[in-house]
Amino acid sequence: MIPHVDGHKDEQEEDHIPFAIENPKNVKWYDQVLLNRPLRVVVVMLIVAILVPVLMYRYVFFPTLELAPTDGLSMGSCVVARDARLPCGRESVPPEECHPQCCYDNTNHLCYHRYPSRFSYLLREEWSERMNMTPRTLSLPYGSSASIRNIRLSINEVSASHLTLTFHQSTDIIGRRIHEKNYNYEVMRPELNIIVSSNQGVIFNTARGPLIASDNIWELTFKLTDETLYGLGEIPLEPGTVKVIYNHKGGLSSIPLIFAKSNGSYHGLLIDTISPTEVIVRRDNQLVLRSITNYGLKIHLFVGPEPADIMKDAMETIKVKKNLEYWMLGAHICREAVQDDTLADLRTFLSTATSQEVPFESHCGALPIVFDTQCNSDMVYVINQGSSLVKSAGKKFVPQVSPYIKYTPPPAESDEEEGTTENIEPKTKTTVMAEDRCFDDEKFDQYIIRDPDSSSPYKGRANGYDIIYPGFSRGSDDFMNALWNYNTDFDGIILENSWPLDEYEKDFSDIQDHLPYFSDSFEDAFHLVPQWNASRPIRIFGRAPANVEFPGEMYFKSHNEYGNRFASAFRVIKGSVPTLSTSPWMNGQVAINRQGISTSWTNLRKELVEASLGGVSGHWYWSSPVCGDTDDFDKSYQTRLCAKWYMAATYMPMIKIHSKVHERDPLGFVGTDRRQMIKALNRRLSLLPYFYTTLQEGPLLRPMFFQYPSIDNITDLTTQFAVGNDLLIVPNLQPMQTHVHVRMPPGTWYEFWSGLEIFGAVGEAVTMTTTDADFFSLVRAGSIIVMQKDAQLTAELTRLHSGFSLLVALDCESTLSTDNDEEKLTTEPITTTDDENISDDKENTSPAAHGESVTEKVTGQTEDGEVSTTTQSGDRLVRECEATGKLFMSEKMSISIKATARTVTISAIGKDFSVFCDPHDAIWAKTVNEIIVFGLDDEKNNYDDSRVVKMTIDLCELMVKEEISSRYLGN
Ligand SMILES: *[C@@H]1O[C@H](CO)[C@@H](O)[C@H](O)[C@H]1NC(C)=O
Ligand SMILES: *[C@@H]1O[C@H](CO)[C@@H](O)[C@H](O)[C@H]1NC(C)=O
Ligand SMILES: *[C@@H]1O[C@H](CO)[C@@H](O)[C@H](O)[C@H]1NC(C)=O
Repeated sequence: MIPHVDGHKDEQEEDHIPFAIENPKNVKWYDQVLLNRPLRVVVVMLIVAILVPVLMYRYVFFPTLELAPTDGLSMGSCVVARDARLPCGRESVPPEECHPQCCYDNTNHLCYHRYPSRFSYLLREEWSERMNMTPRTLSLPYGSSASIRNIRLSINEVSASHLTLTFHQSTDIIGRRIHEKNYNYEVMRPELNIIVSSNQGVIFNTARGPLIASDNIWELTFKLTDETLYGLGEIPLEPGTVKVIYNHKGGLSSIPLIFAKSNGSYHGLLIDTISPTEVIVRRDNQLVLRSITNYGLKIHLFVGPEPADIMKDAMETIKVKKNLEYWMLGAHICREAVQDDTLADLRTFLSTATSQEVPFESHCGALPIVFDTQCNSDMVYVINQGSSLVKSAGKKFVPQVSPYIKYTPPPAESDEEEGTTENIEPKTKTTVMAEDRCFDDEKFDQYIIRDPDSSSPYKGRANGYDIIYPGFSRGSDDFMNALWNYNTDFDGIILENSWPLDEYEKDFSDIQDHLPYFSDSFEDAFHLVPQWNASRPIRIFGRAPANVEFPGEMYFKSHNEYGNRFASAFRVIKGSVPTLSTSPWMNGQVAINRQGISTSWTNLRKELVEASLGGVSGHWYWSSPVCGDTDDFDKSYQTRLCAKWYMAATYMPMIKIHSKVHERDPLGFVGTDRRQMIKALNRRLSLLPYFYTTLQEGPLLRPMFFQYPSIDNITDLTTQFAVGNDLLIVPNLQPMQTHVHVRMPPGTWYEFWSGLEIFGAVGEAVTMTTTDADFFSLVRAGSIIVMQKDAQLTAELTRLHSGFSLLVALDCESTLSTDNDEEKLTTEPITTTDDENISDDKENTSPAAHGESVTEKVTGQTEDGEVSTTTQSGDRLVRECEATGKLFMSEKMSISIKATARTVTISAIGKDFSVFCDPHDAIWAKTVNEIIVFGLDDEKNNYDDSRVVKMTIDLCELMVKEEISSRYLGN
């Protein structure tokens, strides 16, 4: 383009002739054009406006000459806003590697799709479930890959708020139709384009982007919203983010659910592909899915409109099982002792923890369990002894188990048969007696993942030893029983390293020869897991002859499922205990065990974000390691971080304290640090009744967008989190940070430990001072938090032995209740009043004096016992306060608590009084011995910002009384 424009400039030089107008005869037509200033401007403008774009179009964007497509379909344009460009295959490639049907941006050296893309599928007739779609372009921007010729789209209407889209090449996927639904969809032809709308507008649009289906690469592009996305571990999910769905250390722990905010409501997308899949968030909020698969792509769409609706549908999809046991909320400790005498170490730890009053619930015993091909070892003894020690210390035994098997080659005799080279070692190995082996190598051969290049087991590495990987296929019960030689009397189980871990160095330099698409982010994910092309065993009955290729599926195709297979195989050993797993896959049956978190301030915040997102994605039971769990922890400068992490752990759904080289439990610290850590653990215990109640109905830790979806300017915050409906934490997560900024959610809020009311308009940032030793938290006015402050050594003991404290955070409203409306509320109330005005027996008080019926008219929500205040003019300023709370004790018993400005009323929901009144079977305490009230007028407080009343309420009275009322104000 440049030469042309320059050439024209040369012509322009001619018009230096000053008085050309004086020789009109010599003036040629073009000179006239050139000499006439306005005309000249017009011509130059025309050239700029028409010629330049055309030339740019021709030379800048198109590597080849552009011809209109002969198929009569959209030609597609390369003039696409930079932000909206979609990568065509690999994005950063030299021009010659950019597919001719794509566009190339010479300036930035990027290869991108036309709009509409040439890589789409065509429908010859109206879309239907069984209709085959054909590719518009056969060759693809992925090496020599060619499009699959016939694929189908299946749309399954799962429920009124949930549908799935499946792109596949199978014949037996047929979606169902329902009548009542809150969405509709349109499949356009001839070039495929899908638009799904709900009552709130468009919620999914493929926007004429590419759909690519080929061997080992399926790609789909779509857009959910122009506004904000949340999910995949990020709040918000920013453009430029790339995530890989392939379980690995550092990968996603939650289901790949994305919340999209649009026009004041929310909808959700769940990516349901078992194959390794890359999710790219583009600048324009387009999402690109690239999956190394042959099966196809499946996504779920949830209509919302609230994040909670999306969560509910997602939980149904992954079949969440609610099986919370109270003790699971206590701290779980595991020490991978490095000394030899692990039993002595454990014994010392247990007794010191008791004497130092470090509360915890469960322990992993002498050491984490790793299966071993050798069985006789002292291991079994040590672990069984460890289990007894833990139990006799009054704790739950929750072993941590890895899925792989520590491998020692079988005795030399069988070497020839195995035919592998590694195993031909000198006969020194004969110390290994055949009877020492845990299982019969030959018999169980078929259960082991195999090497890609031979028929021998694939060998990985972990913690410095060789390991092999069971495939955990169905029907491996005998095998599991052979592996498990330990005491089966455990209370829960943590399946760790279940990505599974493989630290064996891998080389991906030639992987392009095998897979059409492989990116750096895939490489990252493929790195610390078994080699992608190992082969999963397909069960063969009887022994296959040596050197015969085992038929088996490539390992990576089902890698994501490995954790699930491990979990279900483990059920053979003990079926019904709470199970935590490091890498479940779309599995609501197990709790999440976060693992591989290194100790840093960044990761502390990230853990809060992950746990909160995980919770609202349906993983309510989510365990996070306090202070990280890797070896890179340095006590010399990270102690304060660790103490802060304990404070944050107060509010996490479940917590684990993992020590290996460095101790992370409070006993590993001294002085103030240790005291703060123990205090944080005790605080957590005191809040468990509230957590347990909250977790019956929703996640514990929640991001702002979930809790306050409609308050636009707080939805994206990760500096504060809701803990249930009633608490808000605003952590200071910087070293030495002395201030926090609270962005006010709706309602009135009090500082949780003092009762100080925080004033601020919704969305406004209020700055509060805090200290290193504090963790700023707020309680919502209108709520009652049930606490048990007298912490014992475990959650279960605390639940049984600690009296209840009721924290009543009053939500008060002052109303003027006479006809003299000109009296404004600003009138300072005379505050003597109430105690005298209202007699104990409320029923006898006349409504006028009491203010009850009057205020009811005003607000329609009073209950009783309002505090009224008489102003000078005889009007009464009525201050109505209320708060409600609940304590879930068991399926058949909950306690409901209501409060007004002077009374607390407790009643029982359910009939199962044995849970707190039975002298033998009670699991809950039965006395309330303290009521703390926030929100009273200042002079009624006996502390700075609260009124604390000690009393004794025996909840067992509820067996004979409908309700128990107790006054905390007045006589
Ligand atoms: C946003 O929602 C309102 C109603 O809630 C609707 O009238 C409007 O069309 C929507 N806008 C978009 C862009 O969907
Ligand atoms: C397995 O993958 C590696 C690269 O990751 C490759 O070098 C090797 O040739 C592959 N083996 C087979 C049998 O495909
Ligand atoms: C936050 O948004 C609300 C309305 O949604 C508005 O009233 C308030 O001023 C905003 N606050 C800030 C700090 O932007």
